[in-house]
Amino acid sequence: MKATADLYIGIMSGTSLDGIDAALVDLSHPSPRLVSSHYQPYAGPLKAALLGLHHAGHDELHQSQLIANRLAREYAFAVLALLKQAGVPAAQVQAIGCHGQTIRHRPEHGYTIQLNNGALLAELTGIHVVGDFRSRDIAAGGQGAPLVPAFHDRVLRHPDIHRVILNIGGIANLTDLAPGRTTIGFDSGPGNLLMDAWMMKHQGKAYDKDGAWAAGGKVVPALLQRLLAEPFFAAAPPKSTGRDLFNLDWLERHLAGNEAPADVQATLLALTGDSIAEALQRFCNGMQEICLCGGGAHNTALVTHLQRSLPQCRILKTEELGIAADWMEAIAFAWLAQQAMHLKPGNLPAVTGAKHPCVLGAIYPA
Ligand SMILES: Nc1ncnc2c1ncn2[C@@H]1O[C@H](COP(=O)(O)OP(=O)(O)OP(=O)(O)O)[C@@H](O)[C@H]1O
Ligand SMILES: [Mg+2]
Repeated sequence: MKATADLYIGIMSGTSLDGIDAALVDLSHPSPRLVSSHYQPYAGPLKAALLGLHHAGHDELHQSQLIANRLAREYAFAVLALLKQAGVPAAQVQAIGCHGQTIRHRPEHGYTIQLNNGALLAELTGIHVVGDFRSRDIAAGGQGAPLVPAFHDRVLRHPDIHRVILNIGGIANLTDLAPGRTTIGFDSGPGNLLMDAWMMKHQGKAYDKDGAWAAGGKVVPALLQRLLAEPFFAAAPPKSTGRDLFNLDWLERHLAGNEAPADVQATLLALTGDSIAEALQRFCNGMQEICLCGGGAHNTALVTHLQRSLPQCRILKTEELGIAADWMEAIAFAWLAQQAMHLKPGNLPAVTGAKHPCVLGAIYPA
């Protein structure tokens, strides 16, 4: 590794609850360079325990702390794998930006919880850790989400091309990079999480590969209308959401009960695609390029649906802009850690609704 490198690690574990994305990134130049990456899926019981903590339950304080410890060990394991692969010693890394695992997101009540034990992660890795990125933005009156638009704004803006960055994770969020206009961004609603949940319930698989099961079903128009009537979709930004709202219970409350499971999956894909397309048309007027990242970018049926809904736009993956679609969020959290260590703001008030720019995160020194 060059002596001039400025190395940070970003760790993202998102609402899909699929696992841990870890990225070792050199941030010494305006364009981040991905040095190495490591994906570590969650074991089934850990995913189930995390899903359970999304609801009030018996002994949840104790259980959530135990799982935070477990997560810190998993994150540390991912860090070690990453460093080993790159042949980089821990002492060369400036800091780890670790998002943690969201189990509640309630900005309307003034809090959000991302499980992690930053102290333990610092202890196990010997590297400074930045965590709890969202709380300060909420304390300043913001949504605490999405946070990646500041990174998109810094790295992916084009002087003449009107780009939108669309991250399809568990939740879908977008960043509007219109030349000459202030960057905006918000959560549009479900990304993969409803399709994943329905797939698990009926097919016993973590996700619907390439949207193939959905593509074999038929959209149920009445169900789609009922789902799209959810007030979150019509609300103007700033807005953010999570499993607190969009979950299997929410879906099942809207079912008539006689729908074929594959038709429900087709309807969920249409809901995801339509809610994204409507948000784009309403708030990103004049967009030319839609740049996809996140696991949902691999869902070919969903991408086809989006392209049909938005024929005027070129849809591409962020690889074309120099950032791998699967690593965008982890790289963004490496950058957010660098911002925190330099005591620079990481939020965009126009995105989150915070009263002012804030230095985001809590620092656990090595
Ligand atoms: N080939 C594929 N076909 C369909 N869906 C896929 C495919 N590959 C990945 N996915 C989806 O991507 C999801 C993982 O995406 P990702 O890791 O970006 O989401 P996340 O962890 O929720 O991140 P975040 O919330 O930070 O955006 C999987 O749960 C799955 O639904
Ligand atoms: Mg993930």
